[in-house]
Amino acid sequence: MDVLDLQPLRETTFVRGIRALAETDSTNTAAAEWSPQLTSEELPALVVAESQSAGRGRGSNRWWSGPGALTFSLVIEPGQHGIPMVGWPALSLTVGATTATALEAVLPGADVRLKWPNDVYLHGRKVAGVLIESPLETPRRLVVGIGINVNNSPAQAPDDVRSRAIALCDVAGGNVPRSLVLTKVLQQLDRDFRALAADAPDLRPRWRRLCLLTGRSVVITDSGRTIAGTCLGLDDDGALRVQTGHSLERLFSGVVTEFA
Ligand code: BTN
Repeated sequence: MDVLDLQPLRETTFVRGIRALAETDSTNTAAAEWSPQLTSEELPALVVAESQSAGRGRGSNRWWSGPGALTFSLVIEPGQHGIPMVGWPALSLTVGATTATALEAVLPGADVRLKWPNDVYLHGRKVAGVLIESPLETPRRLVVGIGINVNNSPAQAPDDVRSRAIALCDVAGGNVPRSLVLTKVLQQLDRDFRALAADAPDLRPRWRRLCLLTGRSVVITDSGRTIAGTCLGLDDDGALRVQTGHSLERLFSGVVTEFA
């Protein structure tokens, strides 16, 4: 059994408050409920759960996570990191890119990609997802939820998940320490929040390098509209550029329903 060692995180990462739960419905919900009690000094605050009974994905999706998964949420105050509210859309894409970068560090040489806006793919299958929410009671704060398939091989997952998902252990050929993965993600988040605040030049080329959809045919639905065309990559604002038969679309939100 891979035991999550959270003790060193206050020394090795930017996390201050830590809550470890054996089981919860969703770490995003637990983090949102905790947020009003947290002082600024306790941020970023981390909630980690060994098991989620009702893990949530974007839209109305659920998030499957069997034993060995890494599921956690952070309460952050973007203003503390120098990220104004206008930077929140880019933050969403950044967290996906951050997770991908951290997984590249854990599995050097593996094919890790970012599927806009913030899904992470490993060798063509989904390995991690990000769900960012703004708790009503603490409007200046965000809950950043990240789920990573680490040692929960989808071989044990429901049918619909099994064909599309992958875990780090499938590529590593054995268990990967979840503490290492968590530490790498948190350290990279710290770096990337600073980069975003400083408008650092390395961030956008990294989004572009990681973009899974560039050059592919895509179908995207956005507020009831369907956009089909060729993806031309990401622009500086984090918008996905899609060339349709008659126009060049810049998309800030949407769900990629097909890509080939
Ligand atoms: C997606 O791919 O649709 C996003 C998945 C996000 C899953 C994580 S697991 C930790 C946190 N708690 C949740 O209920 N969801 C996020």
